[in-house]
Amino acid sequence: MRIEAFPDDAWAAAVAARWIRRLHAQPDLVMCLPTGATPRPVYSMMAAAVIAGTVSFAGAQVYLLDEFGGLAPDDAGRCDAMIDRHLVGRIDLPPGSLHKLDPDAVDIDAEAARYGAALRQAGLDLTLVGIGVNGHIGLNEPGSSAESTARRVELASSTQESMRRYGAGHSAAWGLTLGMAEILQSAEVWLVATGQSKAAIVAAALKGPISSAVPASLLRQHPKASALLDQSAASALGG
Ligand code: F6R
Repeated sequence: MRIEAFPDDAWAAAVAARWIRRLHAQPDLVMCLPTGATPRPVYSMMAAAVIAGTVSFAGAQVYLLDEFGGLAPDDAGRCDAMIDRHLVGRIDLPPGSLHKLDPDAVDIDAEAARYGAALRQAGLDLTLVGIGVNGHIGLNEPGSSAESTARRVELASSTQESMRRYGAGHSAAWGLTLGMAEILQSAEVWLVATGQSKAAIVAAALKGPISSAVPASLLRQHPKASALLDQSAASALGG
């Protein structure tokens, strides 16, 4: 896995510049995107680039990585609300080109299976993932195997706690997520992490044992995965 650390104040611009180059090279890019706090500065820069006319999402497809369950449809902490606020509502992605999981589906298992199948058919070119303090990516909590597919998951207490930062009306106890298998099938994966609070888990994921105990470590088995870190998040990696 390629590890790249950027000065804290230059991280977002570096990731956005790389993403813009990727979209220029392949305007019909099929992407899977996370929500959460980490990518927000990058999303802001991508929105500004669209407004400036230097990049376009008009030919792209976006698949949301995950969704919380049991929240009101208008809850600000839902992933679909966050991606709309921070990216999709600010760019030129056609409405039909955003794909998401429906946590209000009557049959949750069928909904997860539908999404996984749609995504496998589309074929992901690029997947961005954040990392939870417990090593989760998407909502693949510790214990998720490399073979896990799109499914309903129960959320770890640290994941429920982190939702308070998202403006959720209340914490979700469960969610829907793409599995490790679908993430690992993406042609390219970028793990993004910032801040001192992620330093220990970033070091565990990138330098510790490759194990489903730290799902993010499974990305090291991917032939084209990169960790794009700011210096604070990279600070426990050593030389
Ligand atoms: C959110 C998601 C999560 C977050 C992770 C880090 O869609 O998939 O795995 O990426 O919990 O969250 P932040 O960036 O808020 O620290």
